[in-house]
Amino acid sequence: MSLKNSIFPILAVFLAGCGGEPQTSAPAHGNSAVSEHEAVFASPTERPTDPFTASNYNDVRVTHAHLDLSLDFTSKVIDGIAVLDFERIDPTAQTLILDTNDLDIALVEAGAGEQFVTTGYRLGRDKPTIGAFLEIDLPEETNKVRITYTTSPDAEGIQWLSREQTASKEHPFLFTQFQPLFARTLAPLQDTPAVRITYSARVQTPPELVAVMSAAQDPDLAAGGERDGEYLFEMPQPVPSYLLALAVGDIEFKSISDTMGVYAEKYILDAAASEFEDTPRMEEEIEALYGPYLWGRYDMIVLPPSFPFGGMENPRLSFLTPTLVAGDKSLTNVVAHELAHSWSGNLVTNATWRDAWLNEGFTSYVENRVMEALYGEDRAVMERALDMVSLKRDIAEAADPATTSLKQPANQGHPDDAFSQVSYAGGMFFLKFLEDRFGREVFDGFLRQYFDDYAFKSLTTEEFLAYFEDNLWSNYSDRVSEAEIRAWVYEPGLPDTAEQPKSDAFVAVSDNQTAFLSGEKAAGDIPSAAWTTHEWLHFLNTLPAETNLAQFTALDSAFGFSTHQNAEIANAWYLKAIAAGYEPSFEHLEGFLIRVGRGKFIYRLYASLLDNERGEWASSVYAKARAGYHPIAQRRIDDIFNR
Ligand code: BES
Ligand code: ZN
Repeated sequence: MSLKNSIFPILAVFLAGCGGEPQTSAPAHGNSAVSEHEAVFASPTERPTDPFTASNYNDVRVTHAHLDLSLDFTSKVIDGIAVLDFERIDPTAQTLILDTNDLDIALVEAGAGEQFVTTGYRLGRDKPTIGAFLEIDLPEETNKVRITYTTSPDAEGIQWLSREQTASKEHPFLFTQFQPLFARTLAPLQDTPAVRITYSARVQTPPELVAVMSAAQDPDLAAGGERDGEYLFEMPQPVPSYLLALAVGDIEFKSISDTMGVYAEKYILDAAASEFEDTPRMEEEIEALYGPYLWGRYDMIVLPPSFPFGGMENPRLSFLTPTLVAGDKSLTNVVAHELAHSWSGNLVTNATWRDAWLNEGFTSYVENRVMEALYGEDRAVMERALDMVSLKRDIAEAADPATTSLKQPANQGHPDDAFSQVSYAGGMFFLKFLEDRFGREVFDGFLRQYFDDYAFKSLTTEEFLAYFEDNLWSNYSDRVSEAEIRAWVYEPGLPDTAEQPKSDAFVAVSDNQTAFLSGEKAAGDIPSAAWTTHEWLHFLNTLPAETNLAQFTALDSAFGFSTHQNAEIANAWYLKAIAAGYEPSFEHLEGFLIRVGRGKFIYRLYASLLDNERGEWASSVYAKARAGYHPIAQRRIDDIFNR
């Protein structure tokens, strides 16, 4: 810890929150009880570097990006000019190294104020996951670079949809997805979660389209102005590059409160606004627990169905899959999740992708607390019970046991590997364990202080553990042991201190399932009128391999699973139908795979088809569906077929 931090902790926290400061020092909040003895989780003195960036962010740091973007929907490219403000951390630094991926660089200039001069640069060889570095010579006295470039039609972070691929079929659509390392396919940046920048942008589109970003939206449009094809954005809070985001299309807006609303294509706007109408209460709940929402507005955009995720926590504007609009708010935990990232992830960010659980595990925990507060303990327990099953499944299926501890291994091949249920549910159950041991009130207070102390910073698992020790554990050292903590964070598998969520509702569902399978009860006699989506998911997920085809037929005709409108339920059914070889589902499964591009569903469906000797059929479906998938999904499914 630097002298400055140890003497002036408050000042250090303040300075580090201001953006330019190297974000390596832990806040010194809390008591000093542990200074008497050797700390178990000593605060690391050095920050590991992120292996998925080529940028020299420890020597020179970009603090602000201004992006001037002109979109060409015909050639599927963006002409960009990026002006990056930087600070020299090492005063002798001679070059700025940025990340790029599939960018065509036309001109590189360096400057100060409004004056720029051409400067030397080298574009590295394109490497598989990380792309090509762009090393720019920095003449003395310069503090900005300006790069003129063009993106590629194949940019992995950008999906271009033709008009035929949208709901209205009238206008094309574009959206970005930059987590974990695709911002570099839009612009040259220091593309690592360890660096935060503020940003501004001017986006030019065909005049009939609207552009929105993870920022304050265009002021003219917000004031009720007309679409004009030129949109201005301002993001005053510093964010890691993976939270830059852009969507363009025939997008309309509907407000759900003074500070919240939904953007979507017209066909789903009203339905989405009612589906998500509880979001203001979700925000109030999180604020009551962990302190104020610090980002201004919170809006959501419902994207076309090829969006490869359930949701993405782009600040001020979460991106959501239309499959959440189920009609009964049964899938809005995803909204709670993306909103919760406004604290865990966007405010307090994992420094490297080995620490992804600091983003996703904390967020899953907060998400579940929100569901409990709004809809009651029963729903929260059901969601945890479903999560526990998928966590155990992911642990069992892990190719490398080292990926089943919260801290992910040093030899990560791709940062995507960090996003199994281990980081999500594993992280959530770890925090639940801590909550149970320290008591809810104490633990809530600790988390609130943590979000405050690390606001607008990034940290590693080790820094978190040191902070936990200083600010919680040292005050109640008998509540958990070092071995228990280490088992969660560093050892493979599920620790035996994990909660086993018990849902009475699920017990009743299982009883009915048993009665049905034994022939005691007909499908139509299962008393399911009041069952929620969660109960159905439990019913379907636990259908045993012995379930015979006659039973599939009976269930399908009683409950219409093959054509179910709830995507989670349909997905759970298709997985069982594939394993059982229940043919009548397949034509509907084909439709689902062509319509829906959400990775959580389709990756497992394709993998399961291959595992069940349906490879040929799967590749014929994929041949039809592939063009409609997001590049991220295309890469993931190509890998499934090639393994
Ligand atoms: N940040 C993630 C989405 C993500 C993960 C994007 C990894 C890129 C790489 C987002 O917050 C998320 O976790 N979404 C989940 C929903 C959640 C309720 C588990 C999803 O998309 O299913
Ligand atoms: Zn998340």
